[in-house]
Amino acid sequence: MTNNKGQISQLPADLNPQKLPQHIAVIMDGNGRWATSRGLPRIAGHRQGAKTLKELLRCCKDWGISALTAYAFSTENWRRPTEEVDFLMLLFERLLRRELAQMHREGVRISFIGDLSILPKSLQAEIERSSAETLNNQAIHFTVAVNYGSRNEIMRACRQVAELVQQGELTAEGVNENLMEKFLYTADTPEPDLLIRTSGEMRLSNFLLWQMAYTEMYFTDILWPDFDREAFHQALLSYQGRDRRFGQVKASLSA
Ligand code: FPP
Repeated sequence: MTNNKGQISQLPADLNPQKLPQHIAVIMDGNGRWATSRGLPRIAGHRQGAKTLKELLRCCKDWGISALTAYAFSTENWRRPTEEVDFLMLLFERLLRRELAQMHREGVRISFIGDLSILPKSLQAEIERSSAETLNNQAIHFTVAVNYGSRNEIMRACRQVAELVQQGELTAEGVNENLMEKFLYTADTPEPDLLIRTSGEMRLSNFLLWQMAYTEMYFTDILWPDFDREAFHQALLSYQGRDRRFGQVKASLSA
């Protein structure tokens, strides 16, 4: 069934509702190329990319997927031209201000991961407000990674664990995977089942390295602003064709 924008609003019949990924992570790549190929400034690609993300969030909710995590700005993205960085910071802030009420109505819980302490103060305020206001929402958990870098996250966790050992509150033998996870930004979130990266790039770019140890990867040449419901449908079909073994022999053991 399609909605008034011609998009598939219900789960397509060829997808098995019992085998949907519960948590999807996305690396939204190709905004710049999308804009440049149209003779537009790169920022026009980010603006369109934000619309695509909003639509994907709605689609995940419509199709019964319970968590979406988007890589919006990496620790390396500060190396972009100042105007582009400034535009992205403003875009995040403006989107939060403009979309929060609607997201809240739709039951979206929004969280942020990354080192938020060096973001513009006004953006930090919007981040705090939107996280607090939507904390108890249950329809879908939407996490935005801003000034996020996985190595930095793991190093920060190690440092916190080392301090506990130094203070005698923990022994070296007491350090295990479960404990480490408690010190990651994603402490309260299940690991992603599926990673989608657009624009033909096939790497992780320092995104959720610990959390994606067993995540299925899907790469597509489609540029992020063009990643519509049909493209998402194709990604889910590919995911449902995979045999997730988690290092074991039979898929049924890990279901
Ligand atoms: C990568 O494309 C995209 C980004 C670094 C920015 C992504 C941000 C958004 C889509 C806005 C989302 C808003 C919120 C609130 C989460 P690129 O610029 O690297 O593209 P290129 O590889 O073609 O140059």
